[in-house]
Amino acid sequence: MTDDVLTPDQIQSLRDRVADLMPQVRADLESLIRIPSVSAASFDQSQVARSADAVAGLLRAEGLDVEVVVEGGRPAVIGHVEGPDGAPTVTLYAHHDVQPPGDDADWDSAPFEPTEREGRLYGRGAADDKAGVMAHLAALRAHRGTLPVGVTVFVEGEEESGSPSLPAILEKHGDRLAADAIVIADSGNWAIGTPALTTTLRGGIRAVVRVETLDHSVHSGMFGGAVPDAVTALVKLLATLHDDDGNVAVRGLDEGLAAELDYDEARLRAESGLLDGVEPIGTGSILSRLWTKPSITTIGIDATSMEKASNTLAARAAAKLSMRIAPAQDPKKAFELLRAHLEERAPWGARVTVELTEEGSGFAADADGPIYDQARASFRDAWGVDPVDMGVGGSIPFISDFAARFPDAAIIVTGVEDPDTRAHGANESLHLEEFARVCEAEAIFLARLGAQHRG
Ligand code: BES
Ligand code: MN
Repeated sequence: MTDDVLTPDQIQSLRDRVADLMPQVRADLESLIRIPSVSAASFDQSQVARSADAVAGLLRAEGLDVEVVVEGGRPAVIGHVEGPDGAPTVTLYAHHDVQPPGDDADWDSAPFEPTEREGRLYGRGAADDKAGVMAHLAALRAHRGTLPVGVTVFVEGEEESGSPSLPAILEKHGDRLAADAIVIADSGNWAIGTPALTTTLRGGIRAVVRVETLDHSVHSGMFGGAVPDAVTALVKLLATLHDDDGNVAVRGLDEGLAAELDYDEARLRAESGLLDGVEPIGTGSILSRLWTKPSITTIGIDATSMEKASNTLAARAAAKLSMRIAPAQDPKKAFELLRAHLEERAPWGARVTVELTEEGSGFAADADGPIYDQARASFRDAWGVDPVDMGVGGSIPFISDFAARFPDAAIIVTGVEDPDTRAHGANESLHLEEFARVCEAEAIFLARLGAQHRG
């Protein structure tokens, strides 16, 4: 490229600088991982405050003007530093809260004690999303003293809990997030060695379905056979949510178009850990099933535990459902379709109520234009290969709120995850070499935006 905005020497010197910075970036990442900042309500929320303070300290050390903001939920960190006069502005997003670690026994090393094994750093939040926080810091450090663009950093503290106070934070502080471009470092890449821009995310809702069949529980020997128990009715109802092929059976839901990449059943089996003999579910391309078609998962059931079981017909039972929806689907409409489906299929006239507990919109990027061109070029600089466009099946509710508020900003969704990251699971980990590429690419992206403007 002869008319590139950066010379090969400029690109190489930024890459070298990031390489020199990585030991300290890694050390700071490890300190963040040691803070168990689980935003789920049953965990110690003072740890989330500690991690917000730690992130704020790291940003202050880079010369940013920093504030920790709390608007009824967990603390978010907002930092700002001006760029050269007239230079573009960029907002950098990540989250400092993490998912619960689950059972310690399922981990090969303690979840909050960062441990390296075979080129990967293990720990809760090692990838999702404390490495996202540190990628932003690495990019800032690479430009210490000579930042080519204005930068605002926004690090949320409750993304893993559905961002309940985000509307209040945006209401009060949203104007400070205005930018020409935003880098959301909370997704991942296509494969080790192949970078990606995430151009679609699914939306999601959570709902609770409750089933009641009796005024009170009764002896299963006296009434079993003539009156239904609520657990069986619930299970029968849940079974109507998928057809025999495993497609979601709720009518009227949207389906989006998935990015065109090859992903076969063997890769799905290997990456998901599907047991031999167990079939994948759904029809259509695997990536459409993962990224753009709806899915419904039963994520919890309240019923008598086996330990407390006796010969009785249960009067009531409930289940929590997580439904993923097409990137452009309206979450409220999706919930109404789910509710109607469940109410209409109440087994044996059981009383069925359905409650919406959380909702978040998906996102489909307009992945073109000069800022996207520079993002793609930065990936190429760092990896030596072109990035692919990919989708993800998960959600980042902040993105649609940001897009609605700043419709002209280019939204670049990137991140450190790879197919073996196991975010949310036991043994979550970060591929350290890929992490360095992510940091390089972000540093180069900021340089490219500044140079594009100057040129
Ligand atoms: N980092 C994930 C989003 C993601 C998922 C990116 C899969 C790439 C692949 C994010 O932290 C997350 O888990 N989001 C939640 C949002 C929910 C709580 C509203 C999700 O998708 O479950
Ligand atoms: Mn995340």
